[in-house]
Amino acid sequence: MTYIGDALFFSMVPAGQNTSWGLRNRLSRIIKPKDGRTLMLAVDHGYFLGPIRGLENPRRTITPLLPYVDAVMLTRGVLRTSIDPEYDVPVVLRVSGGNTIDGPALGDEEIVTSMEDAIRLNASALAFSIYVGTQFEHQTLKSLARLVDAGERYGIPILAVTAVGRELEKRTAKYIGLACRVAAELGAHFIKTYYTEDFHRVVDSVPVPLVIAGGPKLESDLDVLQLAYNAVSEGAAGIDFGRNVFQNPNPIGMIKALRGIIHENMTPQEAAELLKPEKIKA
Ligand code: 5RP
Repeated sequence: MTYIGDALFFSMVPAGQNTSWGLRNRLSRIIKPKDGRTLMLAVDHGYFLGPIRGLENPRRTITPLLPYVDAVMLTRGVLRTSIDPEYDVPVVLRVSGGNTIDGPALGDEEIVTSMEDAIRLNASALAFSIYVGTQFEHQTLKSLARLVDAGERYGIPILAVTAVGRELEKRTAKYIGLACRVAAELGAHFIKTYYTEDFHRVVDSVPVPLVIAGGPKLESDLDVLQLAYNAVSEGAAGIDFGRNVFQNPNPIGMIKALRGIIHENMTPQEAAELLKPEKIKA
């Protein structure tokens, strides 16, 4: 069964109803109004992981993938150095940080990029991680709320990222449902989260669009395509995959195949055809 969910509904609410024209216009550059879907590329990992595999040289990795994505999620440092300003791709700017994988607490994040700089960089949205259920829950939720206030003031949508840090076992419908609903209640305009069992229930209880993270590299290409397919079939507005694209030996084939699922309603098996070498050259 295909759930249309609130993603499409949200993209169809007439301008001016709840949010400003500018905010809706920016959001519609990311979540395409023709189908209420988005294919985002996440390359923001360096903000706490440093030069992870596949992203050692960001420009080399990102440039060939840009023609196939609806938006790119990254930090201001990588944006300025690794994407030409003439390139017309909507930017989802990560503005949270302040910790590393080697530090004492992964969730100890704050807003590290000003709204002024985000506007200067022509960001289409700002991304901020929340750490529900940790000692940093209050700090990150308050920062999210403050960012939403600023986003509303300047017409810039806010993407809340329901981060789980090292605790991957938190990817349950109960936890994801709680974190996403709280983010929506605080005013996030869309949310990046994880696919989980009973995902359609999460979609049903969260009144803003959800996009799905890929997580650590999956075993097979078909597993990656199946994850994207399941997510949108159950009502996600799209995906924001990182490692499962840029750590794939065939990243262009993978992004094309994911595009087939997100925007052309392909099945994982149909999309897998696009991974074949002769299709990649075309
Ligand atoms: C962490 C993040 C990441 O930095 C990134 O965007 C995750 O993408 P993926 O899991 O698909 O590699 O959002 O919370």
